[in-house]
Amino acid sequence: MEITAAVLRDGHGPFCVETLKLAEPNADEVLVKMLAAGMCHTDLLARELPPEFFAGPTVYGHEGAGVVEAVGDNVSHVSPGDNVVLSFSSCRSCPACHADRPASCFDFALHNMAGGRPDGTSVFTDASGASVGSHFFGQSSFASHTVAASDSVVKIEQSLDVSKLGPLGCGIQTGAGTVFNILDVQPGSSFVVAGAGALGLAAVMAAKVRGASTIVAIDRHQNRLELAKQFGATEVLSGDPATFAPSIVEITGRGADTAFDTTGNAALVRACYEGLNNIGVLSMAGVGFGDVTFDFLSMVGGKKIAGSMEGDAVPATFIPYLAQLNADGQFPFDELITEFPFDEINEAEAASASGEVIKPVLVF
Ligand SMILES: NC(=O)c1ccc[n+]([C@@H]2O[C@H](COP(=O)([O-])OP(=O)(O)OC[C@H]3O[C@@H](n4cnc5c(N)ncnc54)[C@H](O)[C@@H]3O)[C@@H](O)[C@H]2O)c1
Ligand SMILES: [Zn+2]
Ligand SMILES: [Zn+2]
Repeated sequence: MEITAAVLRDGHGPFCVETLKLAEPNADEVLVKMLAAGMCHTDLLARELPPEFFAGPTVYGHEGAGVVEAVGDNVSHVSPGDNVVLSFSSCRSCPACHADRPASCFDFALHNMAGGRPDGTSVFTDASGASVGSHFFGQSSFASHTVAASDSVVKIEQSLDVSKLGPLGCGIQTGAGTVFNILDVQPGSSFVVAGAGALGLAAVMAAKVRGASTIVAIDRHQNRLELAKQFGATEVLSGDPATFAPSIVEITGRGADTAFDTTGNAALVRACYEGLNNIGVLSMAGVGFGDVTFDFLSMVGGKKIAGSMEGDAVPATFIPYLAQLNADGQFPFDELITEFPFDEINEAEAASASGEVIKPVLVF
């Protein structure tokens, strides 16, 4: 069938809205008509890489929300007409997948970032007959219709408004999942988050749900810190990173119980780590480049560092849980959304880059 999709043809160029041909789903895939798709920083990573690392023309997008149109022969968990959110895919057979930790799948890159199915084929063809990369995070949802890996497809209760739930597929799931699944933030505890963007604000909301009594948010944008306070932060910090660890220790008394970096900035990661108490845990989801250093003696002291891939979530259960928390009014992540018509995808990126918009959602 012919569809409309946003193709990135050059890592540093604009998204081009084009007509593509979409292949039929295979036995383990689902054809989804997209209603909306969130934009996450990971869709824009090509902007931060040297041009020679660009993988070639690709349809990005990994926070899709839509309606199932057709399913392959092996797919039984969804049927045509079902509302779905699209999340990441995994191999379902490695030790991490067997341990119910699909976000840490040993073949994560192959299933989510290889520019097509694990067998190397793609479902998109452009007007010249050339193949265009598909299956980004199992889905490539910057498209009016897509063919997604079956485990990327999460069924959503028909009574909920699925069109606002796409961001649960990655950014919001990662922020909340880090708090619930990795840090296991406890009632009455102290929690610090560096970065008050989509991940960080979702984490603030989740820490509030968990009943943390001290929630410290760090950002360079004052308007984002105001939002953090609105969603549950009890203290906010801005300015020189060298002041953050001493401030955290002062606010918490003995150092924070848990901390979460969403900036990918080495100075902030280290400030969060140094602000922990001796049995504190730091989780890191922000994507940075280069090295982060930690002081030897402080590491021997008992602090822990835990990486966060997608908040260690199992999308099939965690996304419906977050959708229900949202419907119950306890997790208002949808207040972070600004909608853009799909063909204004480049404007959506610019509004996100300027800090003006926290979670752009493209509407089809
Ligand atoms: N690990 C995962 O599974 C996963 C999933 C989704 C996104 N990510 C990554 O997480 C990061 C955050 O994503 P997001 O959507 O929340 O981005 P975002 O841009 O909405 O939020 C990042 C926030 O950090 C702040 N910030 C960055 N550097 C700072 C600095 N030096 N000082 C003060 N504030 C600073 C920014 O002002 C911004 O508010 C990105 O790197 C993204 O690629 C990781
Ligand atoms: Zn696996
Ligand atoms: Zn993402």
